[in-house]
Amino acid sequence: MEKYIAVIPGDGIGPDIIKEAVKTLDTVASIYGHTFRYNYLLAGGSSIDEYGIPLTEETLKEAKDSDSVLLGAVGGPKWDGMEGSKRPEKALLALRSGLGLYCNLRPALMYKALSSSSPLKSEVIGDGIDVMIVRELTGGIYFGEKKKAEDGSWASDLMKYSTAEIERISRKAFEAARKRRHKLTSVDKANVLETSRLWRKVVSKVAEDYPDVELSHLYVDNAAMQLVKNPGQFDVIVTENMFGDILSDEASMITGSIGMLSSASLGEGKGGMYEPIHGSAPDIAGKDIANPIATILSAASMLRYSFDLDTEAKAIEDAVEKVINGGVRTFDIAGKGEKYVGTEEMGKAIREAIK
Ligand code: IPM
Ligand code: MG
Repeated sequence: MEKYIAVIPGDGIGPDIIKEAVKTLDTVASIYGHTFRYNYLLAGGSSIDEYGIPLTEETLKEAKDSDSVLLGAVGGPKWDGMEGSKRPEKALLALRSGLGLYCNLRPALMYKALSSSSPLKSEVIGDGIDVMIVRELTGGIYFGEKKKAEDGSWASDLMKYSTAEIERISRKAFEAARKRRHKLTSVDKANVLETSRLWRKVVSKVAEDYPDVELSHLYVDNAAMQLVKNPGQFDVIVTENMFGDILSDEASMITGSIGMLSSASLGEGKGGMYEPIHGSAPDIAGKDIANPIATILSAASMLRYSFDLDTEAKAIEDAVEKVINGGVRTFDIAGKGEKYVGTEEMGKAIREAIK
């Protein structure tokens, strides 16, 4: 199989972790006889430095013309003072929306060997944590109209959802639940927000087509609490854009480290964008410290969702598990006093395990 992958290392630790993910893809390609061609593109701060804007039309077009996109992370203190529309993060939002990637899958999976890295007590963790967060990614308050007063005395962001937007993400979530433990929790703030009342109504209607999936509803504040109180109760969570952003950081941390969690952003077609859920961590950039696992697992998701290469994806995931079980750690997942390796060495260990 031959595929064209747009690779966007981005800023901060982005290039460090992307390097390891690309090498992992190359290992898979050589073992299974595929050809992956990479088209390196700039987005975020690096694009601002080069072209003056976070994402050029040209870059978006190149991303659209690729079979999929692999992204590191964007942003950093260097560009923090910039106006909203010119910030590095704008590149991410423009890519998500420009590519029509409304469905963001964020699996929060705890590796047994890492349970001591979780801030939760072992009796709370119980049999482990395996939650799939399905986050709506191209609507809601992130994309609603933004306004601010000339004199700076007020600002507003509009949260808006259409029935169609809610319906399509709900279907993806029900489908995901069907492939897992058949439980879906829809998270909203229907006691306060009009968009949430619409959300609840639409999700409940879609549920009629999925009688085999058990649907429940939670308010977002309660969901945040339940995640740390009893994470084992969750299978799939579906929620709007901003709630999903917040809950996925929380879910990642209870599994041990935000450096372990991948994400897949999907739309109607086969193309997608794959990125770790963590940020650009500029303080540790270029120091061979960052944990590359989230990005490597994102590359595995790319193989699965965009290229239908399940065996290859599984080979990467199994290799990660083997390496973790074998005790290899980056600093973020190392216990107190435990030895740890750098970014490159972790990547290498995973590649060796694949072989
Ligand atoms: C994420 C990030 C982004 C988001 C930022 C960087 C715009 O936090 O992917 O979770 O809020 O979606
Ligand atoms: Mg986030």
